Amino acid sequence: MYKSLIRPLLFRFDPEKVHHFTFSSISFLNAIPGLPSVFRSLYDVEDARLEREVFGLKFKNPVGLAAGLDKDAKLYKQLGNLGFGFVEIGTLTPKPQDGNPKKRLFRLRKDSAIINRMGFNNGGVLAAAERLKQNPKGKGHVLIGGNIGKNKLTPNEDAVSDYEICFDALYDYVDYFVVNVSSPNTPNLRELQDKEPLTKLLQTLQDKNAARPKQKPILLKIAPDLTDSQLLDIIDIVKTTGIAGVIATNTTISREGLLSEDKDEVGGLSGKPLAKRSTEVIRFLSEKSNKAFPIIGVGGIHSADDAIEKLEAGASLIQLYTGFIYEGPALIKEINKRILGS
Ligand SMILES: Cc1cc2nc3c(=O)[nH]c(=O)nc-3n(C[C@H](O)[C@H](O)[C@H](O)COP(=O)(O)O)c2cc1C
Repeated sequence: MYKSLIRPLLFRFDPEKVHHFTFSSISFLNAIPGLPSVFRSLYDVEDARLEREVFGLKFKNPVGLAAGLDKDAKLYKQLGNLGFGFVEIGTLTPKPQDGNPKKRLFRLRKDSAIINRMGFNNGGVLAAAERLKQNPKGKGHVLIGGNIGKNKLTPNEDAVSDYEICFDALYDYVDYFVVNVSSPNTPNLRELQDKEPLTKLLQTLQDKNAARPKQKPILLKIAPDLTDSQLLDIIDIVKTTGIAGVIATNTTISREGLLSEDKDEVGGLSGKPLAKRSTEVIRFLSEKSNKAFPIIGVGGIHSADDAIEKLEAGASLIQLYTGFIYEGPALIKEINKRILGS
């Protein structure tokens, strides 16, 4: 129904307006008594064989929602009703910020892709933490990842303290953390992926983590545009800092082989054209590190086959964003069913 009826309608309108409309609709529908359990019975695949224990956490299934859709932690419970095993909120920054001027989100239909240059628009980490506090997830609910970043106006030399602020604010409310240094839409952010600043950033967070009575897994989210030698550096950094794992990958600045009109818009490209490169990155990290740490695979998963490819390349868990927009919630169920072999 999503692909034949709902998507053709939604795709007639501006992508960001559709995002807000869909967001409100999911929220509204989930407030109608009885409907959340209808959604769960439609999309949730409950089966112990789908459970995964990764970096000390028990996931009810390996299919998660990638960062960027529920930036402000407004819809994590409702999205959990659509069958996801985990939902990543953020990217959150210490101070609220508007992001880049509109128009900043482009649908590349001929390529089954999206270009976005949102620029970490979010209401600030404290507001999100308050929301998580007021509306705690119940027992047996999806796990929540907290994806953290820095404000646009914070210079890279002071970036560590932005990540520390976000870490402290979310610590009590999320199950794992993601350090995002790979968005192409915050000027110079990706320079924080260089060996020296990245080691310093991750070590500072790890030290903060170690000082807590219970440690939360900290993951690093990387760009697909890193070279092999940069990826080897990443493996070194994960080992020396002892962080829990890597999310591969964020959106790409590459525009190879695109057909759509909006292909030259500035921003990060996601969806089908990203699938091959993100799988290569996952395979490289997994092989060169001898599977030393878990990887969450994300980038261009639009079918169960795409998901299996990521898992076979070395991902322990996977995430969707653009595939979820193009294929709808049925994709989550399709992937979980395929993993079960049915
Ligand atoms: C509109 C949009 C906004 C995004 N915002 C974020 C973000 O705030 N933080 C982040 O780490 N990734 C963000 N991403 C990247 C996704 O989490 C994901 O890594 C990327 O889109 C590749 O997966 P996909 O091909 O399934 O979309 C965003 C992606 C899109 C399309």
